[in-house]
Amino acid sequence: MTEEKDLRGRRAFLKQGGALGGAAALGALLPAAAIGQTGKIRIGLMLPYSGTFAQLGVAIENGIRLAIDEAGGKLGGREVEFVKLDDESDPAKATDNANRLITRDKVDGLVGTVHSGVALAMVRVARETNALLLIPNAGADAATGPLCAPNIFRTSFANGQVGYPMGKVMAERGIKNVVTISWKYAAGEESVAGFKDAFTKGGGKVTKELWLPFPNVEFQPLLTEIASLKPDAVYTFFAGGGAVKFLKDYQAAGLKGKIPLYGAGFLTDGVLDAAGDAAEGIETTLHYADSLDLAKDKTFRLAYAKTFKMQPDVYAVQGYDTGLLLVQAFAKTKGAVDKPALIKAMEGAVIESPRGTWRMSKAHNPIQDLYLRKVVGKENRASGVAVKALDYPPADRCKMPGA
Ligand code: BEZ
Repeated sequence: MTEEKDLRGRRAFLKQGGALGGAAALGALLPAAAIGQTGKIRIGLMLPYSGTFAQLGVAIENGIRLAIDEAGGKLGGREVEFVKLDDESDPAKATDNANRLITRDKVDGLVGTVHSGVALAMVRVARETNALLLIPNAGADAATGPLCAPNIFRTSFANGQVGYPMGKVMAERGIKNVVTISWKYAAGEESVAGFKDAFTKGGGKVTKELWLPFPNVEFQPLLTEIASLKPDAVYTFFAGGGAVKFLKDYQAAGLKGKIPLYGAGFLTDGVLDAAGDAAEGIETTLHYADSLDLAKDKTFRLAYAKTFKMQPDVYAVQGYDTGLLLVQAFAKTKGAVDKPALIKAMEGAVIESPRGTWRMSKAHNPIQDLYLRKVVGKENRASGVAVKALDYPPADRCKMPGA
């Protein structure tokens, strides 16, 4: 499919007000070969394979591959070819990287990425080119808020969606004054904003917000400040290698056990081997946990461990669900890259996920349960559901073009 065709497709789609035209309906009925689409379906994987989020990128790719392999290794009967690109979690390179995959490599669908700043650039490119974009992690609220679009879907979370439940839980516990600490970029800012929203509604107060630039890990001066401020608790957003360093530094600074540390679940997900006892006992909220009593989670965890010789984490689950979404959508079009039909299928998809069954909101973000978890040994053990079926930020912040 050429870029020119994509642009025409977008105009046509917008004119139709998002409704399916005859061609789309035809695409859903005819096998791909009958409408001239054969050969491999090309899926671009724009993910971090280096830097502090490298392991997250690998887990996402593993999850996608597992879901497609379990479906016979094909999408709608067609072989799949992955075109991989290391985005280095670098927003400055993101526009060029996304354009390269869409225009030069002519991928049929683009999957990416982890870092919210990179994802926002991808969203802008996807809006301009009408490329199909599936976001398997980055929580940038705007992607399914003011920048939402028919061709953009997220299979993970919105940043505020993960912070909000922790604010609710901490307020309900009677915690009154909190210091927040995070990287200063969309993910950290929106995670803290979601947390604050629920925490202040529940009567709590954020007395100080501490920030450092991504991916800086010089935590010491800020930890000294926390020690002198003596808040009731600390709320934080860090992930990947940075989360491991933060947990260890918090313990080394003598704060662990003195000032309770809470966070968005990325703080302790996928890092427990590396963090050791620095993570023990820490409570977080997330849309996944290690000990869910769900048959789908048990089979997923077994298959993932057998295939990749490691335990899955939330990033692997999000990758897996991205694969499930692709499998479902291309099954509906019988392998045709028929964008309106694929979009319709994705909007109606029911994802039987290891995290629990979820559906897309009107803004194309999962409506899902947010678990409260506690680190026990090498597990993020679920202790309950903090908020059920949370659609946050509310889907009405998205005015879908063409709707
Ligand atoms: C983000 O940039 O959106 C993000 C990165 C890692 C974990 C969670 C969110």
